[in-house]
Amino acid sequence: MKSKILNVSLNRKVENLSYPIIIGDNILNRSGEILKEFIYKKNVIVIYDSFFSVKTSPNNEFEEFVQSMNKLTTTLNFIDIPGGDQTKNINQLNEIIEKVLTYGIDRQNVIIAFGGGVVGDIAGFVASILLRGINYIQVPTTLLSQVDSSVGGKTGINSKIGKNLIGSFHQPQAVLADINILKTLPNREFRAGFAEVVKYGLIKDLEFFNWLNQEYDSIFIYDKIKLQKMITKSCEIKAKIIKNDEKEGGKRALLNLGHTFAHAIESFGNFDGRIIHGEAVSIGICLAFKLSNKLCFCSKDDTKKVINLFQKSKLPTSLHDIKKLSISTSGMIQKFKLDKKNRQNELTFILNKRIGESFIKHNVSANVLTQFLNEEI
Ligand SMILES: NC(=O)c1ccc[n+]([C@@H]2O[C@H](COP(=O)([O-])OP(=O)(O)OC[C@H]3O[C@@H](n4cnc5c(N)ncnc54)[C@H](O)[C@@H]3O)[C@@H](O)[C@H]2O)c1
Ligand SMILES: [Zn+2]
Repeated sequence: MKSKILNVSLNRKVENLSYPIIIGDNILNRSGEILKEFIYKKNVIVIYDSFFSVKTSPNNEFEEFVQSMNKLTTTLNFIDIPGGDQTKNINQLNEIIEKVLTYGIDRQNVIIAFGGGVVGDIAGFVASILLRGINYIQVPTTLLSQVDSSVGGKTGINSKIGKNLIGSFHQPQAVLADINILKTLPNREFRAGFAEVVKYGLIKDLEFFNWLNQEYDSIFIYDKIKLQKMITKSCEIKAKIIKNDEKEGGKRALLNLGHTFAHAIESFGNFDGRIIHGEAVSIGICLAFKLSNKLCFCSKDDTKKVINLFQKSKLPTSLHDIKKLSISTSGMIQKFKLDKKNRQNELTFILNKRIGESFIKHNVSANVLTQFLNEEI
């Protein structure tokens, strides 16, 4: 299968920036060759998900990646961290930073994040603050990270107060996504990643949403041609949205469809794995459509179509599906107030006019939300 190469271009005031996303099958054994132009010093720090620990992992892609990188570099330093959102915390951040510093780095060094969104987010954040910023490369290993978190430069960790509240914008030098690495991904994680894929169709592309419905069976039996198309299309939509709004002053917020609800739900789960990000996004998007319908922006028909696709994908679609988290209306409203999209204490949500057309709605009243959530809980 021929790899697809896509460019993320960012229109910046001072100097434009562009970097490639390489999406292929079985390409990690050529990592050294592919990434050569981004490695300036023969000393590279690899922060990786401990799932890939060479001695125990059922997945040998990491070993192949290391062998290939060894041909290019003289020193690879490794730091392994567990996947899962509990890892994205300040203590873990400090531990990684101290380990990296003991390797004696300078600004020519490069960090490689090898793992899912959790490794990518925290390793990217480390790269953004070490020595006021060093380069990093993303090698995403979950569906969610291949279609979303590895692209666009949002990095960060969670706070006890809420999700992703500490972080920075720091773009990677390149993204290398190998479809073959998904072979060991648990089905639950694959479905969670699929929620973010569906999100792109809902925000901006009805045709893509229809294609996902139509190709659903092939996608869920890991048809690699379909997966490559799906991942490439997702990254294309994301790249287009962030092109003129790198730091989310405007339209980039559309990518947050369902996320105000999702982040609040995740905080109720204490990031302990009872609910994972993509599952919370699935519920969040269904709630965003229901709210859009309640406020007469979107039809019942479209809302049903969205919920149907998530249900078919065995994703949770309502707060009733996660009763174990003891979610309360007032607690949810408290969490909404922490959302980064809000302006001057007004709550902001991403809502939909139809499938394929999201918009930013400022000033959503807390009373309306209270009534809405009381009906949902
Ligand atoms: N920066 C962004 O723009 C952005 C966008 C979306 C999500 N996120 C963040 O991404 C995180 C979620 O990412 P995720 O879903 O990748 O979670 P994750 O990184 O926790 O990975 C999920 C699980 O899969 C395991 N795993 C990883 N690769 C595997 C493989 N190939 N085979 C088998 N197991 C594998 C991990 O060890 C972990 O247990 C959240 O913290 C979310 O906030 C960030
Ligand atoms: Zn997300």
